[in-house]
Amino acid sequence: DWTMGAYREEAIAKIREQVGSSHVICGLSGGVDSSVTAVLLHEAIGDQLTCVFVDHGLLRLNEAEEVVTMFRDHYNMKLIHADESDLFLGELEGVSDPEQKRKTIGKLFIDVFQKYASEIEDADFLAQGTLYPDVIESVSFSGGPSVTIKSHHNVGGLPEKMGLKLVEPLRELFKDEVRALGHELGLPASFIGRHPFPGPGLAIRCPGEITRDKLDILRKADAVYIDQIRKHGLYDEIWQAFVAILPVRTVGVMGDGRTYDYACALRAVTSVDGMTADYYPFSHEFLGETATRIINEVQGINRVTYDITSKPPGTIEWE
Ligand code: XMP
Repeated sequence: DWTMGAYREEAIAKIREQVGSSHVICGLSGGVDSSVTAVLLHEAIGDQLTCVFVDHGLLRLNEAEEVVTMFRDHYNMKLIHADESDLFLGELEGVSDPEQKRKTIGKLFIDVFQKYASEIEDADFLAQGTLYPDVIESVSFSGGPSVTIKSHHNVGGLPEKMGLKLVEPLRELFKDEVRALGHELGLPASFIGRHPFPGPGLAIRCPGEITRDKLDILRKADAVYIDQIRKHGLYDEIWQAFVAILPVRTVGVMGDGRTYDYACALRAVTSVDGMTADYYPFSHEFLGETATRIINEVQGINRVTYDITSKPPGTIEWE
């Protein structure tokens, strides 16, 4: 793309001018905005960039591995994989209130990010994937305070607290332009076209108390569901799709035996900005096939439901 090619060169020149020979820290989540920010910065300043990827143990199947492989091995970036699952899951033990989950995760996230970032020597700048819409209006989710990396920094006043200046190379762009820039920078479609994923991750897709057992089951079911959606060519038509594991076990039959396992709910919505949403009208064939696959392939689930609530009155996430 001609325009994005020119934009890329301009953005790189600006970053070099702003940063000089200083070191930059970038919080990387694997989402579109932070990924494009990281790749652009890396192209501009190479080893003067260190990315911090906070792994709270609430990511999807193989997600941490995919992020580390892409940015550390493929792009050769300096990347700190802050694997703090034990810390997060430990603090979340016994917590079942949605807002309490968000608060716990949000606070730990800032602490952890700050701890790892403070070990990076001579850092002067913090990079953020702020987009133009973030600049002109601050969106607040109905689901409560957002804990994306972005809002962590905004809410926590982290740059000031850490004595860092901000680099925000995507400040002039809209989401579709960020995607185009990502494409221009060679990021694969699996990163550019990703559905949004909430900061608290699987915690808010596991209503009630979070256990490692439930998270494992949820990850497997979600992977089968997304695989089904991709195989049927529906991924790009859907704004967001995921499985929620329900805090209830139900009776089923399997062969000669009786099962007593978790029920799950499939969620898929279309939306423009996440503020309102419609449930996606899957065919009955798709739903039936997906239910069969999940029950056959995921031990621990014996019942699958489809959530047909739109927003409003529902929210997209279950918590
Ligand atoms: P709801 O569930 O409020 O979600 O309809 C709207 C959009 O926001 C995402 N979401 C969050 N993102 N931290 C985030 O970073 C949060 O606490 C949070 N809650 C919801 C949700 O995934 C959807 O895209």
